[in-house]
Amino acid sequence: MAEPVKFTLNGRPVQAEVAPGTRLSQVLREDLGARDVKVGCNAGDCGACTVLVDGAPVCACLMPVQQARSKRVETLRGLLEDEPLTRELATRFQDRGAAQCGICTPGMLVAATALLRANPAPDQARAEEALAGVLCRCTGYAKILDAVLDRDGLHGGGSGSVGTPLRKLDGIAKVEGREVFSDDVAPPGTLEIRLIRSPYARAAFRLGDLDAYAAQHGLTAILTARDVPGRNRFGTIPGFEDQPVFAEAETRMIGEAVAAMVGPPEVIAGLDPAAFPVAWQELDPADSLDAALAPGAPQLHADHPGNVMCTGFVARGDVAAGLAEAAQTVSGRFETSFVEHAYIEPEAGFARIGDDGRLEIHAGTQAPIMDREALAVILDMEAARIRIIPTATGGGFGSKLDLSVQPYLALGVLATGRPVRLTFGRRESLQVTTKRHPARMNVTIGADETGRITGMEFQGDFNTGAYASWGPTVANRVPVHASGPYRVPAYRAGARGIYTNAPPAGAFRGFGVPQAAFAQESLFDELAGRLGMDPLEFRLINALEDGVPTVCGQVFDQGVGIRACLESLRPHWQAARAEARNFNAESGRIRLGVGLGAGWYGCGNTSLPNPSTIRAGIRADGTLWLHQGAVDIGQGANTVIAQIFAQALGVKVDDLRLIGADTALTPDAGKTSASRQTFVTGNAAQAAGRALRAMILRRANMGEGARITLGAGWIDVAEAGKIQRLELGALAPDAHGYVLAAEETYDPPTRPLDENGQGVPYAQFGYAAQMAVVEVDTALGTTRVARMVAAHDVGRAINPLLVQGQVEGGIAQGLGMALIEEYIPGATENLHDYLIPTIGDVPPITTLIIEEPDAHGPFGAKGLGEHALVPTAPAIANAIAHATGVRPRRLPITPPRLAALIREAGHG
Ligand code: FES
Ligand code: FES
Repeated sequence: MAEPVKFTLNGRPVQAEVAPGTRLSQVLREDLGARDVKVGCNAGDCGACTVLVDGAPVCACLMPVQQARSKRVETLRGLLEDEPLTRELATRFQDRGAAQCGICTPGMLVAATALLRANPAPDQARAEEALAGVLCRCTGYAKILDAVLDRDGLHGGGSGSVGTPLRKLDGIAKVEGREVFSDDVAPPGTLEIRLIRSPYARAAFRLGDLDAYAAQHGLTAILTARDVPGRNRFGTIPGFEDQPVFAEAETRMIGEAVAAMVGPPEVIAGLDPAAFPVAWQELDPADSLDAALAPGAPQLHADHPGNVMCTGFVARGDVAAGLAEAAQTVSGRFETSFVEHAYIEPEAGFARIGDDGRLEIHAGTQAPIMDREALAVILDMEAARIRIIPTATGGGFGSKLDLSVQPYLALGVLATGRPVRLTFGRRESLQVTTKRHPARMNVTIGADETGRITGMEFQGDFNTGAYASWGPTVANRVPVHASGPYRVPAYRAGARGIYTNAPPAGAFRGFGVPQAAFAQESLFDELAGRLGMDPLEFRLINALEDGVPTVCGQVFDQGVGIRACLESLRPHWQAARAEARNFNAESGRIRLGVGLGAGWYGCGNTSLPNPSTIRAGIRADGTLWLHQGAVDIGQGANTVIAQIFAQALGVKVDDLRLIGADTALTPDAGKTSASRQTFVTGNAAQAAGRALRAMILRRANMGEGARITLGAGWIDVAEAGKIQRLELGALAPDAHGYVLAAEETYDPPTRPLDENGQGVPYAQFGYAAQMAVVEVDTALGTTRVARMVAAHDVGRAINPLLVQGQVEGGIAQGLGMALIEEYIPGATENLHDYLIPTIGDVPPITTLIIEEPDAHGPFGAKGLGEHALVPTAPAIANAIAHATGVRPRRLPITPPRLAALIREAGHG
């Protein structure tokens, strides 16, 4: 033990007695209680841990605590107390919607404070430079810059009624560093879990003498497959529960867990996992689509011949005839890569036996009820004995729909009888959590001489990795969506999920649709070019409309908004194409390009039941409570659903008290995925608000137009100059303590797809079209996205501030997918080898909100989360093709790939 290190933390003298070299971040969080300091990578890459040391921003994860000796350390919490600038910044972050999940927010606010102390009125370049070291995966940075530069932009000071920009109701805790994320729950000293993971893509293994190892090192327990009391398998789709908690004899991917060590933090910290008693025998892997589909490839799962996990299929009309009658036909093979979710918060959690005797799991999740059901099977325990309390989630985007830490936490508590915690390091998060499916797609599209599509054929293979995760959903969704939002009279689309020895690919903002849109929208541009047509006009000729059947034969008689999206882009498109023409007429190696991408996305589960339930009640004291179980992962469900409910009830949002997702307190609002929460849970909230309103009006004997006012122990109902007061104390409370209550469920009307994929897969789609302007250096192959214009049909923008936030964040992720991001198993296992867009990479974004109301949506609203990303990569790829004359067919379009294409085409 080194001598104590003394320094000042937020104005107070503190001292730490820890081993030399201990990270300042660790001491701040675990020894000094400063959990407003976040840890995203422990490697200086993400900036979440930014603190001020003697006024200068530093990554606390890179600073040994000894270097802080005698210095002044400030974190967000301290700055909020002492620094008016930080308080002002926090208010602006809240007003401008600059915090979505909020995990990056403390680091961002600390870095911004340092900037504004030095330069009270920085320009954008200076702000980008100062904030470049702090990554945000949610916002696309635009609103962060709005807040830091105090520039014009939407302000969340609306009334909260539907259609007004409202600050996030749960935002204050985020901008004040008080939000509790998954690694913030466990008290210091809690037993820790560390997993022993396979170093090989495929290996057989044998465990040694675990009892001796545990005794020798002072471990509390070692867990393996034999400690799983129930089924040692989990998965998200019934029939595809193929992933073991612990591998039994063979591991199928790098990082697969074979055992877990449980012990006191100081014991766990001192152990070398490489010395764990396990003998490995490396086996030949099938680590790519080619390797998995080759004759003689190892069969990775016994029930899936040829490693084909699942297939999806949609067929309509006679494709051969449609393509035969085409005046022009284009074909292409397109490929995309693994894309990592790269949320700033790695998976973490805490578990204990709760005061009521239930097993209690605190973790970041998008699907608490699914977690509980899966754990019940793994543990062979009644679901009622398990309580899932979702913490704030520091980014999800789909991956936190899968179990990660939860089974190990549960088994750790059951084995030791004591509370336990588990935090994935960034490397293990990258190794084992789900990714976007790499895809290989062959597509052919034909059109007649007037530009009308006559037929389209699509066949895609999606690398699902070692386990199914949401692969079956991807295989089902892709054929339904691969036509894009167009009228395609003859269509045949198939998709296969293929097992490989790669990390599992699963749900990631779009479920395979962004990959398919890249192929289809690229070929649309080629086809327009062959026909000598403007790409925008070509899309408009083919745009789906009310009354026209989709490729699944579904006919919407209202709400199809793609035409409105495309038309709203027209002035931007014409001006930008003219600008590019002029620029390129004079330019040399730098070329300007303007491209379009469009897309659609069905909101909710594909042809499956998909219910959400909302409960609300009024207590005798007049307080109004909303049990809102739709997990808010930063997108704003807590705010939007509250707005919908309040409007339906006829009260102000401020009148509500929110009870967030908790399996013991909130009814099942389904999972936060498939862009379903605003639509599905929003509908349940609207129904609950209306039911409660009807109940109150009935008791007051007032008409539908009456005004409701909540008071301390009473409700006033006013209409036409008459006021009726309901005294709440006179009413009997129900089992939840409410004297007036409503609970309503909504399940979207869908119909199963037949063997040709014909049916009603979704009650509603949302629509989008985006335009990208890029600058390409044709010698280097580098691309800079100069600006984006994004038109999104959201039916009704319940909260325009949050709509903009979703669009900006989705575009930033789409830009990463288009140009930068490629996860290579075994290679890009940190955030300096796996790059995501920084504040300098994301261009100015103009969001055009289109409102083509949907009859099924609450107040006409449609889902949005995934739509924001679908058109981005195709728009950028088409802009690059416009700039260079070469057609990228593989994502990401990295400089070496693009430079090679340009060289081959002789366009350099
Ligand atoms: Fe320190 Fe990421 S946690 S930079
Ligand atoms: Fe920045 Fe989520 S709000 S990472």
